[in-house]
Amino acid sequence: MTHKITIKKVAQSRVNEIDFDNIPFGREFSDHMFEATYSDGKWHSCEIKPLSRISIHPAMLTLHYGQAIFEGMKATKHVDGRPLLFRPELHAERLNASAHRMCMPDVPPQLFLDALHTLVDMEAEWIPARKGSALYLRPFMFATDEYIGVSSSTSYKFIIMCLPVGPYYSKPVKLRAERKYVRAVDGGVGEAKVAGNYAASLYPARLAKEAGFDQVLWLDAHEFKYVQEVGTMNIFFVFKDKIVTPATTGTILKGITRKTLIEIMKDRGMQVEERKISIDEIKEAYKNGDLVESFGAGTAAVVANISLIQDGDFQMTFDESNWKTSRDLKKHINDLRAGEVPDNHGWVIPVHSEVMA
Ligand code: COI
Repeated sequence: MTHKITIKKVAQSRVNEIDFDNIPFGREFSDHMFEATYSDGKWHSCEIKPLSRISIHPAMLTLHYGQAIFEGMKATKHVDGRPLLFRPELHAERLNASAHRMCMPDVPPQLFLDALHTLVDMEAEWIPARKGSALYLRPFMFATDEYIGVSSSTSYKFIIMCLPVGPYYSKPVKLRAERKYVRAVDGGVGEAKVAGNYAASLYPARLAKEAGFDQVLWLDAHEFKYVQEVGTMNIFFVFKDKIVTPATTGTILKGITRKTLIEIMKDRGMQVEERKISIDEIKEAYKNGDLVESFGAGTAAVVANISLIQDGDFQMTFDESNWKTSRDLKKHINDLRAGEVPDNHGWVIPVHSEVMA
């Protein structure tokens, strides 16, 4: 079923007010947003309209029981000026996997893609030209029933906002392995991109920040032994002879940047292992000099250098002179997004405008 998208444009764009050379992450919004409504078992009232506040009832289910999921993706500009999306179908898939886990309705992939293409085509001037910057796209869905009872909602909103952004981390990241709090347990919602996962990470992250770190390195919830993710991104460890990243077996977000980097490294003939990796193995390899680098990967973070990981009293520092793999990967992904290197996998999708209402 195709969905007609109604379009209402702003009278005057705000794009000229943006300093594209100094964009803070997450605070600037483009002119328009996409909104669709779910009720009576179907999506309808699909519209692109000026970005505006939404009016909500105090009993709206999301506020009480947290049925809220989201995606993070980016639109960039080809060097010839054409707007591009990156692996949008994987984001549609992951949104629906999160929706399934949270008892929320699927967004038909064609609706998701039509909405993105139409919106990004309209907001093309908002895509920063500078490499490493992008138009961050935030599709999200939340429950809208007005009811104070614990049940899944029968009505939802699906919205996409666009934000011009620079890099999420402007400097290398310092991590502290978290030994008291956990992010996810087997059978929980760690794999889903659920708003509550981020809420639950705030307190441990605050404690880590107060102690001088930027983020928490999550360990598994049973033994505090196996590395999971950072919460804002997945994590990779570069050994002398291989690259290891924790396998996504239910408690770790299935990052699309993570997947992309693994595929790029395998294309290059590098040995990449997705498996359980313990913090002790990492510390041992660090002591032996086998661990040379560690980096984070996520849509917002892209590839983020890690300068320090602390576990208890044990500190691992990573010297900038060894950040070769992460630098190469960051450059490759940014070059791909600018259409400057061949895209052998068909990951980079030119935005098309013929899906207009
Ligand atoms: C993303 O990388 O897109 C995320 O959703 C993570 C968030 C910390 C911004």
